[in-house]
Amino acid sequence: MGNVFTSRTLAVIDDMNIAERRYLFEKTRRLKEAFASQDETVLDEFRIDDSDFGIYEVFLEDSTRTRESFRNAAAFHKVKVSDLSVGTSSFNKGESYADTFNTLAGYHNSVFIIRSKLEGVCTWLHEASAAFAQRNGLTRVPAFINAGDGKHEHPTQELLDEFTFLEDNAFDTSSIHLALVGDLYHGRTVHSKADGLSLFDTVKVDLIAPRELAMPGHYVNKMKENGFSVRVFDSIEDYLKQEDIASKWYFTRPQLERMGEQVLKREKELRGKVTLQRSYLSRIPSDSKFYHPLPRHRVHPTIPTFIDGTSFNAYERQSINGMYVRITLLAMIAGKVGEDYSGRMRERTRNDEEYILKVSPSSSKKKTDENLSEGIRPIRNGIVIDHIGRGETPANIRKHMALITKVLSLDSMKGGEWVSTSKSDNQTFKGIIFRPGDIELSRKELKRLAAVAAGCTLNIIKDGTVEAKYRTHLPPRIYNFDDLACPNEDCISHPSHNEGVPARFTRTKDNRYACAYCNSEHNYNEIWRQ
Ligand code: NCD
Repeated sequence: MGNVFTSRTLAVIDDMNIAERRYLFEKTRRLKEAFASQDETVLDEFRIDDSDFGIYEVFLEDSTRTRESFRNAAAFHKVKVSDLSVGTSSFNKGESYADTFNTLAGYHNSVFIIRSKLEGVCTWLHEASAAFAQRNGLTRVPAFINAGDGKHEHPTQELLDEFTFLEDNAFDTSSIHLALVGDLYHGRTVHSKADGLSLFDTVKVDLIAPRELAMPGHYVNKMKENGFSVRVFDSIEDYLKQEDIASKWYFTRPQLERMGEQVLKREKELRGKVTLQRSYLSRIPSDSKFYHPLPRHRVHPTIPTFIDGTSFNAYERQSINGMYVRITLLAMIAGKVGEDYSGRMRERTRNDEEYILKVSPSSSKKKTDENLSEGIRPIRNGIVIDHIGRGETPANIRKHMALITKVLSLDSMKGGEWVSTSKSDNQTFKGIIFRPGDIELSRKELKRLAAVAAGCTLNIIKDGTVEAKYRTHLPPRIYNFDDLACPNEDCISHPSHNEGVPARFTRTKDNRYACAYCNSEHNYNEIWRQ
């Protein structure tokens, strides 16, 4: 079946399934042992050893470990490694991400390692580069590795974290109890854990952070959906008041550079809640391990240096593991390792359920005076959108109708909007929009209607009778509309960045919409350009 890892993009940790990650960890274990015993034969199984194979590092944010471990991994592989000087590049002349990376791909580079403030960059470039490669007859579509994008994800850090947890679990994946401590709001390394920790069969996560630095709700939801049991604590002090203490603690740095002034004012107090103190140690089981993606601040480290010489210290080995994991990952992407993978393939399930259902118009009652909503006179020709926002407050229903008329461009026509109650219950409100005239709604417009007005009915009226009737449900995907926009200002697709990235959303289990790039989640009414 060839090598399923060749040219694989890693934008989020979920781009590799659990079996694939286990394979990577087995290989990394073998590699690490070979380094220790200097077994050149085994090391050569990994080595790409191709001076034409190009790896490009593009770091738009600072880095020591991620950038340098990749650079050293590339040196092991004896491949070409370049580093774009972003400060003096044409980024400063207003060039887009797509144009920049397509240019570099044209010079025979196969792997891009990208760190950016903008979120979702690798997913976008993966799409944009496929078209470029086709236009220019490039044989290899490059792989894009996310080396940290804003406060979104950091999948290769997640790989080395998981590898280190496994080492401390004797490679047993049956369970993990992990405390995540520190800046859970901005920390992309902890966000990758919401999917990453699924590597373990049973997962218990304790989130320790003051409210200002708390884990964003959609990551907590994702953890719960993934079956993790999740507990929340305000501080380490609070956490230690109870008995069920994790054996693994993952610390993160308060990311001051991403904080607003309000939060910065309380920096000292917030930091105090997530900083380890000597007095805590007697209450933490002595076989516990502390992890940290690093860097730690030299004046205000959340893991103080006196821990370095104790058995709690797992963060130094974790950092060292970064290079081994990245050597293996590059070997897989280059197609050097991976032929013997026989595990489960990556699944990309696509929900194609129908969300605009045609219902029989004959089922609708003949309109007589008693069953007409008050104030409405039947129209002879036109459309009636009924049951809008059923059960909500009249004010919300009016807002909702304003959004529908805007998105469906119904604002310039005659007709009206009406809030009414149902026949059986005069406390249950619903909205009705009617537009008289010869109106045809195309399939695309019906899609727009479903996207903004799920759960309503659309009646097409011809010569005084309901010619067709549709019931709408929330679509599994919303895309291909010019006026869609991801509300996350840090997303590569946000209109303010002018990157020309078309917004695209997928429905979540709780009927919200997740951006295809930054994965931030929103209600259906929040994804339209304001
Ligand atoms: C982290 C990062 O940049 O996301 N560091 C890392 O990659 N090892 C964490 C941080 O910046 O605090």
